[in-house]
Amino acid sequence: MSNRSKKIIAGNHKMFTTLPEGMALAKEVHRSCGQWTESVDVVLFPPATHLFAVSGILNNTPISTGIQNCSSFREGAYTGEISAEMAKSAGADYVLIGHSERRHLFGESDEVLVQKMKQAKQAGLKIMYCFGETLAQRESGQVEQIIQSQLALLHQLDEFTANDLELAYEPVWAIGTGLTASPSQAQEVHAMVRKFLSLHYPQFAEQLRILYGGSVKAENAKDLLANPDIDGLLVGGASLKADSFSAIVQSALP
Ligand code: PGA
Repeated sequence: MSNRSKKIIAGNHKMFTTLPEGMALAKEVHRSCGQWTESVDVVLFPPATHLFAVSGILNNTPISTGIQNCSSFREGAYTGEISAEMAKSAGADYVLIGHSERRHLFGESDEVLVQKMKQAKQAGLKIMYCFGETLAQRESGQVEQIIQSQLALLHQLDEFTANDLELAYEPVWAIGTGLTASPSQAQEVHAMVRKFLSLHYPQFAEQLRILYGGSVKAENAKDLLANPDIDGLLVGGASLKADSFSAIVQSALP
């Protein structure tokens, strides 16, 4: 059964919630979404300080957890860094790599992102690789070129399969702004990504899931998911409340 036969809804909690709040949110998400996890994959990305506790809460449930970032190094004297292996040992199944906040606010270069993906793969974490254009790039007609160059980083990984990777298209202009790509704008990019995959990775282009992210809410989730190449959603703000997140998970039921 290919991964695409199931939608995936991921919540990126960013730098929000204290530890007690993050634990309560995880419990609440499990309580409200647990009944749907046979039909929809659910992943939570809490802050790194909460990962061990949240993974413990969700242990023995089908809800997965991930870390929002990892180091590009394996180990060493890198004060403040968290390695992929540490995240895995604290319970993470996934890592987010290439999120626009990391690319733009923290200046993560393509080289760094490739190193992070290599570390993640070695540690056995699934990669959720984010990419997307800025408003200026969209307005100057560069969407395809920018996204293809962001996807080209995948060529630098050795081997990977559809089970190692999820892709997340997140137009930068839609993240945290309340502006969502319209379902047809999103589908157009997702179809282009699928075409890129079928040219470069024909062996699993039809299995890889492509999520959409950027101001997803309960109100727009269903219309986005109705498109043939949108296999899931990466949710920021609306994942911080269990009721709005679970309404989004519900909208992904077949
Ligand atoms: P948003 O964030 O849903 O708050 O726009 C999405 C993301 O950054 O992953």
